[in-house]
Amino acid sequence: MVAHEPDRKRAAEQETPPLKLNEILDGLATQRIGTKLHYFAELDSTNIFARRLAEQGAPAGEIVIAERQTRGRGRLGRSWVSPPFVNLYCSVVLRPRLFPKYVPQITLMAAVALAETVASFVPSGAAIKWPNDILVNGKKIAGILTEASWSSNHIEFVVLGIGVNLNFPAALMPEAIRQRATSLLIATGQTVQRETFLRRLIQDLDRCYGVLEESGFDALAPRWEARFDLRDRRVRVEIMDEVVFGAARGIDREGALIVERDDGELQRIIAGDVIPLED
Ligand code: BTN
Repeated sequence: MVAHEPDRKRAAEQETPPLKLNEILDGLATQRIGTKLHYFAELDSTNIFARRLAEQGAPAGEIVIAERQTRGRGRLGRSWVSPPFVNLYCSVVLRPRLFPKYVPQITLMAAVALAETVASFVPSGAAIKWPNDILVNGKKIAGILTEASWSSNHIEFVVLGIGVNLNFPAALMPEAIRQRATSLLIATGQTVQRETFLRRLIQDLDRCYGVLEESGFDALAPRWEARFDLRDRRVRVEIMDEVVFGAARGIDREGALIVERDDGELQRIIAGDVIPLED
């Protein structure tokens, strides 16, 4: 018998119960991240809630988690598909001592931590697609949305939003993302315990953020570079109404992608969509 769509969804939800917060927090000895968890069954967006917390003075390290988002946000004004109980949607309040122009380093730092966490669950490993995507087997498994508030030369706060597809079956993915998205379940054929994943992510973020605060991004750059999957690949970059063709060469200290254009000029890309082309 073929189950109706709502029945299938309900069945999938029952297989993955709500997060058990004690399994995330018990004995968690992190220094900076995970000082407090704000847990919700549903939010519009964890980034919106975390921003409100930060504006009200929440200290660095607090994490907002929702089982489901009704207006999950992605980069460049896109939405983030956020069905209940199968994935991870969280936002961390940070107060980095950085000049505002270095805010992209927070995304790069988080990409290292997130890619390392994902890689510890998938034998095929994880790659970073500039600036904020984590790929497994060439498909997107996780994304990062960093939003900052600053005044002149001082960052007030950063909200670091992270979405990871964990136990998200292909059958539940909207058609629009099915071809280019994946999940840990799809990549490994196994259900992951979401508490174990989140606990590991908090630990990896804590360590990477510690390195960034104490030694600067240069100390993390080799780990970012090692997972950068576009180095020297031919790419098309879409920037608003401009399109650039060239070879991706790496990133600079402000997190911009350096592309050697077909005319030989180096161009810094601050925001845009990078599409790898056949060599
Ligand atoms: C992207 O790849 O476009 C970024 C996706 C970021 C999604 C996460 S889910 C938790 C947090 N809350 C949001 O509304 N967005 C981020």
